[in-house]
Amino acid sequence: MSLFKKQKKTFDNLPTHIAIIMDGNGRWAKKRSLPRSAGHAAGSKTFKSIARYANKIGLKYLTVYAFSTENWKRPKEEVDNIMNILRDYLLDTDSFKNENIMLRFIGDLTVLDEDIKELIKKAEKDSSEATGLRVNIALNYGGRDEIVHAVRRIVESGIKPEKITEDTISENLYTHDIPDPDFIIRPSGEYRLSNYLIWQSAYAEYWFSDILWPDFKPKHLDMAIEDYNNRNRRYGGI
Ligand code: FPP
Repeated sequence: MSLFKKQKKTFDNLPTHIAIIMDGNGRWAKKRSLPRSAGHAAGSKTFKSIARYANKIGLKYLTVYAFSTENWKRPKEEVDNIMNILRDYLLDTDSFKNENIMLRFIGDLTVLDEDIKELIKKAEKDSSEATGLRVNIALNYGGRDEIVHAVRRIVESGIKPEKITEDTISENLYTHDIPDPDFIIRPSGEYRLSNYLIWQSAYAEYWFSDILWPDFKPKHLDMAIEDYNNRNRRYGGI
């Protein structure tokens, strides 16, 4: 083993919750004359390595956008491919469990194939005692759709309109039991939120980069967090 074993990176101010839009898989594949499926497979590998690294540096929450409510518009072959990557991942979550990583899913899971729903249930249950990083995978997730679901639940509860507060909304979102993201990372050169955590990100900081998701490495997460460390979050104050 090298005498110069790499030191674990420490930060003055690690965000509590980082959310990532894993974008650029298709372009990564195209650049290599590979099918889009190869880009998603590479993106899945990057997800696993970034989650492991985030756990190592002591991050508490990581939320990744795996499939949006709009992604159903893609060709069936591509949708099936992403779902199969997810299946493969869910069949092999032991390594995450061994690393003390908790796995949770957010989104409207009701429309997913039965076997995926079962695998999700099992992965969530198997990792429910983990005390390290909590990874939330956003699947069939859309921020507006999430708010519609929340409003339906609130109306069904029979609460009086004047009793509804911002907390009432937050408590009825898929993310009701986790803090809002402090920091949102979007690689691949796009500068938009794409319906991701739109309620929760009201006061988040953002980091954009041209790196395509499959090329995103721990060092890029370090760079992003270092940048976050230089931000001055005022939450509307001075
Ligand atoms: C966006 O890139 C990526 C997606 C819509 C799918 C993301 C899915 C994965 C990374 C696999 C998830 C797997 C696990 C285990 C969480 P794009 O296809 O829009 O890329 P492009 O904009 O370059 O075409």
